[in-house]
Amino acid sequence: MILIIDFGSQVTQLIARRLREAGFYSEIMPSTSDVNKYLVKNPKGIILSGGPNSVTQIDTPRAPYEIWNSVPVLGICYGQQTLCEQLGGKVETGINREFGRAKLDVIADCPLFYNLPKGTDFDVWMSHGDHVSELPDGFKVVACSAGAPFAAIADHKRRYYGVQFHPEVAQTNGGTQILKNFAELICNCEKGWSMVTYKYQAIQKIKEQVGKSGQVICGLSGGVDSSVTAVLLHEAIGERLTCVFVDHGLLRKGEAEEVIKLFGNHLNIKLIHKDASNFFLSKLKGISNPEQKRKIIGASFIDVFTEEAHKIEGAEYLAQGTLYPDVIESISISGGKHVTIKSHHNVGGLPEHMRLKLVEPLRMLFKDEVRLLGKELGLPEVLVNRHPFPGPGLAIRIPGSISSEKINILRDADAIYLEEIRKAGLYDEIWQAFAVLLPVKTVGVMGDQRTYEYVCGLRAVTSTDGMTADIFPFTTEFLAHVSTRIVNEVSGINRVVYDYTSKPPGTIEWE
Ligand code: XMP
Repeated sequence: MILIIDFGSQVTQLIARRLREAGFYSEIMPSTSDVNKYLVKNPKGIILSGGPNSVTQIDTPRAPYEIWNSVPVLGICYGQQTLCEQLGGKVETGINREFGRAKLDVIADCPLFYNLPKGTDFDVWMSHGDHVSELPDGFKVVACSAGAPFAAIADHKRRYYGVQFHPEVAQTNGGTQILKNFAELICNCEKGWSMVTYKYQAIQKIKEQVGKSGQVICGLSGGVDSSVTAVLLHEAIGERLTCVFVDHGLLRKGEAEEVIKLFGNHLNIKLIHKDASNFFLSKLKGISNPEQKRKIIGASFIDVFTEEAHKIEGAEYLAQGTLYPDVIESISISGGKHVTIKSHHNVGGLPEHMRLKLVEPLRMLFKDEVRLLGKELGLPEVLVNRHPFPGPGLAIRIPGSISSEKINILRDADAIYLEEIRKAGLYDEIWQAFAVLLPVKTVGVMGDQRTYEYVCGLRAVTSTDGMTADIFPFTTEFLAHVSTRIVNEVSGINRVVYDYTSKPPGTIEWE
């Protein structure tokens, strides 16, 4: 196993995920934990993650002293900086800040770069204000970039390595290969991780957590995450699982009917359908602040579940399809200090009064890994490949206050957009596509009449994990066709715009 010490980077889990992709098992520990608890498991190597702090400040986290002189260490970004500082080098906050894509110049042989091109044609992702300005004794430069003279460094004798860039993010060419090289060539790890192993481990863990008689209720939305959670739970505990499908009135067109058909009829899982749309809409009335909306929806979900849980005799557990990106953008998963971007509705635990314990078997996985798990569990491809849909639903696709009228307008526009995407054979090429209803009205002219109606925004992105995303490049003809259909067929919209923002700096959802 590789031990990852988390200094609070937004992308620490991506390190684990890249290692999994390459077939290696890893565990993440917060930098504040007792490392000895992990060292007894004999990790073959240690990775120090990035983080939001500066090693130039006192009181910022450092790697535990126990890790040195035992196994190979790879420091990434903040991890490289603390590695250098702790071993006698220097770190400065300087003018050489780099955020985003940078070109790496690989100038020396190093096992980290085995099977990767040498020279300057190497795109990497940088995100640093500080940089290493003086190397500790024994280190050599392996690669540099415009803003980081020590972009990759190595002390081959002690098997210590450092990179200023982030090999774990998709934008770094060959990033997985770099982490694979570290695990395989430098740490001599053996491959032993696969989705089949994960499935059996997850089922085993559920059995251990829930025991022989525990009853579980599972919040089912019909999306991939909660569906995979439900099927996994069903494999583990069978009839002791009851799924509760809460219709919050913020679902897409036809969605509620589809969920009932699939789970109730095909998969034969006990399903309670709770229509709580009036309850949610009344709670959201007049609310336009995005964080407030998310918090209200989260709290209302809990209210509804509590009520349903009381009706199921002996229900002690609540299963949720929370994924890692939901967790990382809301709170810190491993206890390191992260910055909150959005409060995802299903993260952050349950209030004490609810007395239901959480079962979250997907909490460490990314979307595409959940899809693999879904296939492993035998779920139909149409379900497994479905675009992600956020728990707060259409509420966060209607900036400003929400009303039934706006929800219906958005549903119709969204349905046309997705229908056209499917017809064009583009659905599986896109990570997520949806319509947004803007809170502004603009003037138009239809049939010689003045119109004054809402603007509809269209969003489509490609991504591998939802952490970063690029704009999907539709043709002008396609967008023009969808725009014409929406304006002609949806009463209430007279203008359509396409969102041309990647993530970062945008997020995928508008709120
Ligand atoms: P953002 O907007 O944060 O979205 O870039 C990243 C991915 O997460 C989904 N998302 C959510 N999923 N509950 C969820 O279950 C939420 O509160 C939530 N907010 C965003 C979003 O649709 C995208 O796939």
